[in-house]
Amino acid sequence: MKGKFITVEGIEGVGKTTNMEYLRQLITAAGQELVVTREPGGTPLGEAIRGLLLDPQYTGMDADCELQLMFAARAEHLDKVIKPAITAGRWVLCDRFTDATYAYQGGGRGLDTEHIAALEQLVQGGFRPDLTLLLDVPVEIGLARAGNRSAPDRFEQEKVEFFERVRQAYLEMARTHDGRYRVIDASQPLEAVQQQLATVLRALLTA
Ligand SMILES: Nc1ncnc2c1ncn2[C@@H]1O[C@H](COP(=O)(O)OP(=O)(O)OP(=O)(O)O)[C@@H](O)[C@H]1O
Ligand SMILES: [Mg+2]
Repeated sequence: MKGKFITVEGIEGVGKTTNMEYLRQLITAAGQELVVTREPGGTPLGEAIRGLLLDPQYTGMDADCELQLMFAARAEHLDKVIKPAITAGRWVLCDRFTDATYAYQGGGRGLDTEHIAALEQLVQGGFRPDLTLLLDVPVEIGLARAGNRSAPDRFEQEKVEFFERVRQAYLEMARTHDGRYRVIDASQPLEAVQQQLATVLRALLTA
């Protein structure tokens, strides 16, 4: 049987990386073999592309260049990591995926959604996540949490309005998509966030 593909989405500082560990425990405790990975990245080549994408040295990078680098890394990730795992019956838990491209390059940068969809079709065909967990918090809270960490990367240097557009694009996808989205109120204390995640995961694990 094929494994499930779960993606975790949201703006910076919502708690994606923090909650990935909790999700890993839930899934492995249920007896599923799991690959934990992230985008952009997840392969040696993809991590090198991530380095280019996040480097503040490339501030002002052309948005179409940024979009194509995202999908270039994704093609390698799907080929080397995600698809082989799913085919072998493992579950895959990924910190951001194509919905982040719609949110950041579409919502944030203002690129045409149809162009993103064309690249999605080229790179993925009909391949989509089984479940997408959208961790949602108001932008000020996310940025305040993220701001407590290291020096800002190229995306973290963007203004509040950019992240407002990204957040709204995510929420719009959650409203209009085919039911694979679950919106988690991640402004709550970590324990309450994890209770919400456990409820959603239980449904998938017993499906
Ligand atoms: N529910 C919560 N309440 C308070 N603080 C939280 C909560 N969840 C996470 N944090 C804290 O917020 C900070 C950012 O969390 P984390 O790095 O997991 O976010 P992220 O979504 O992975 O961010 P990025 O997109 O930048 O990778 C961390 O210091 C983490 O401990
Ligand atoms: Mg993170």
